[in-house]
Amino acid sequence: MATEQTPAYTSASSGPTTIVLAGASGELGLQIALSLLERGAYVRALIRRGSTNPQIATLREQGATVVEVDFANSKELTEACVGAACVVSALSGLRDVIVDTQARLLDAAVAAGVPRFIPSDYSIDYTKLPYGSNRNLDLRREFQERLDKAPIAATSVLNGMFTDLLTGQAPVVLFKLHRVAYWGNADQPLDFTTLADTAAFTAAAALDPTTPRFLRVAGEVATIRGVQAAASAATGKKFGLLWAGGLGVLGTMIKVTRALMPTSDEVFPPWQGMQYLHNMFSGLPKLAPLDNARYPEIRWTSVREVLKSRNE
Ligand SMILES: NC(=O)c1ccc[n+]([C@@H]2O[C@H](COP(=O)([O-])OP(=O)(O)OC[C@H]3O[C@@H](n4cnc5c(N)ncnc54)[C@H](OP(=O)(O)O)[C@@H]3O)[C@@H](O)[C@H]2O)c1
Repeated sequence: MATEQTPAYTSASSGPTTIVLAGASGELGLQIALSLLERGAYVRALIRRGSTNPQIATLREQGATVVEVDFANSKELTEACVGAACVVSALSGLRDVIVDTQARLLDAAVAAGVPRFIPSDYSIDYTKLPYGSNRNLDLRREFQERLDKAPIAATSVLNGMFTDLLTGQAPVVLFKLHRVAYWGNADQPLDFTTLADTAAFTAAAALDPTTPRFLRVAGEVATIRGVQAAASAATGKKFGLLWAGGLGVLGTMIKVTRALMPTSDEVFPPWQGMQYLHNMFSGLPKLAPLDNARYPEIRWTSVREVLKSRNE
């Protein structure tokens, strides 16, 4: 990913645009903060009181203003949002975070007179999925219903799967076996965007007062055959395909894995990753149309580049 230095969109009152960023100490949040700073924004990073996350030092070093808040305290949250052109959430968690904490942040943004809000979505198009098919995305839909009733302009960034996950976490590119595993159809187009490219696009969207309700991007739209070709090109080894079954088989695997696992508050248990893959292979949450060209300074990273970087 590479971005050219572009000035922040400024309001009539001039001066750098203030963006409030919740979850700034997280993996995606930190990259959004850095992209915003690169674009000349004033970044107010909201950190939960007492957090010892080492990324906080990086945020300070890079020029963000770190504000410790009690996310359960609406008054504190409202004060922290005053003067912002947009509140961006990169929070991660389950219901207590995605629905409850984001709702308090939303109310605070409205109370502080902030005109725009970007929720922590960064996913496949959950609006096209039936309830019950993805635990984490159901929570985003629940928050969406609340967000769409609030007197504030909202923009969700939808980016498919982080391409970075193909280097290990997602059981798709099996580097040792030289195989690309899949369920269903090897010709189903799938959306992939790196975390860094998603962050750069989100930063640009946060500084752009004219964004629509949804922005959809994909660093690369690839079928499983495309991923296979990318893996072969990136490693110099010929990769084959490994068909693990139809979507019904994957659905059964999800049910069995979920039943065998003790209930936990893990945000990304293995069965949730499987739900995500099931969704993607179904084709239902495919992103269209794509808004990649909206900020032409963003150069999109390909699947091959990401797989190659793992080998370096
Ligand atoms: N499309 C994809 O493939 C994909 C993949 C991964 C993630 N995502 C999405 O990207 C977004 C960010 O994920 P991430 O991986 O960057 O998450 P992360 O690294 O776990 O960071 C989460 C952030 O939320 C904060 N946080 C968590 N619980 C909180 C609470 N109760 N109150 C206040 N702050 C809280 C954390 O603060 P502390 O530093 O204090 O812990 C941290 O700043 C999420 O929406 C996630 O679902 C998408």
